[in-house]
Amino acid sequence: MMKTMEWKEQTLYLLDQTKLPEQVTYIACKTWQEVYDAIACLVVRGAPAIGIAAAYGVVLGAYTTYQEQQSNESAVFIQAVCDIGKTLDRARPTAVNLHWAIMRMLDCAVHQQDHTVDEIIKELEKLAIQIHQEDVLLNKQLSMVGTQELSKIGKPLTILTHCNAGALATAAIGTALGVIRGLHQKGFIHMVYADETRPLLQGARLTVTELMEDHIPVTLITDNMAAWTMAQKKVDAVIVGADRIAANGDTANKVGTYGLSLLAHYHHIPFYVAAPISTFDRTIATGKEIPIEERAEDEVRCFNGNYCTPKQALVFNPAFDVTPHEHITGIFTEYGFISKPDMITVSSFFIENNIKE
Ligand code: MRU
Repeated sequence: MMKTMEWKEQTLYLLDQTKLPEQVTYIACKTWQEVYDAIACLVVRGAPAIGIAAAYGVVLGAYTTYQEQQSNESAVFIQAVCDIGKTLDRARPTAVNLHWAIMRMLDCAVHQQDHTVDEIIKELEKLAIQIHQEDVLLNKQLSMVGTQELSKIGKPLTILTHCNAGALATAAIGTALGVIRGLHQKGFIHMVYADETRPLLQGARLTVTELMEDHIPVTLITDNMAAWTMAQKKVDAVIVGADRIAANGDTANKVGTYGLSLLAHYHHIPFYVAAPISTFDRTIATGKEIPIEERAEDEVRCFNGNYCTPKQALVFNPAFDVTPHEHITGIFTEYGFISKPDMITVSSFFIENNIKE
């Protein structure tokens, strides 16, 4: 499995996902601005991965502040780090994991007011590494939850997935692909259909590459083939990742996910979301409040770097859409399975599992 990122000697090495699968190259980020750019242009992408990268971004910001700042006053230093964190938080608006990780880091800084700048930096680095390591563990737990639930069906499954919610979107085996990996280990995968995921082809370039490397049977389809694939190939379940889940279970994920949920509903195919608790945003009641990123128009006008439309063609390019909770059969998390998510089931799940936000 390719490593999404590595932290070594005050440098964050990010696998450049824009170049996959042709080239496996790492970009060395030594400043927080480089991390910001890498997140914005999708060198690193996927909700959990951008959260981890941003946590390291805060550490890099702390180093720079330390080098540039004249005074050694902790309060001034913390203020500067908070400003950097708030800027990093704007790199991409939809995935709440970015905000979650940065807030954890800034909270840590603010609680160190009585410590020296040196000590604060050490604590920040320790926390970023911890956020990174936690993701490895929760991927495993989430995978076990999904594998246990879906292996009850008792036969090898045909699964459809969208975008990339795999190792490349996290620090370990992934969320949706973590469940697929778990099922495969138990002999419960017949075939995975991967949507190519226009316009940036995360499904074609990343998911297909990841699954082929692990010898998991995978077949690529274009996004507009999903309905026909469901009808013809006896798809047993759809499993996708998530970028932000509202208090009532409405889920933002890569654009095209909402359409898949409608198709799954029509074909009576269960539709699952796999996401860590850090992807929940219970400060918002419904998916209507989720900010949806709109990206550059040329991402749609161009294919493989070449224009395939008139250069002035009007384009609408939302990077995400929201699947209403009514279309979601259940959500796999590291704490367990939320069946039929809605305001009540989600809230009871948090209470029963004593989950702190
Ligand atoms: O634009 P991207 O590639 O960052 O979008 C990624 C997705 O939509 C993933 O499905 C989501 O972040 C979950 S990753 C475990």
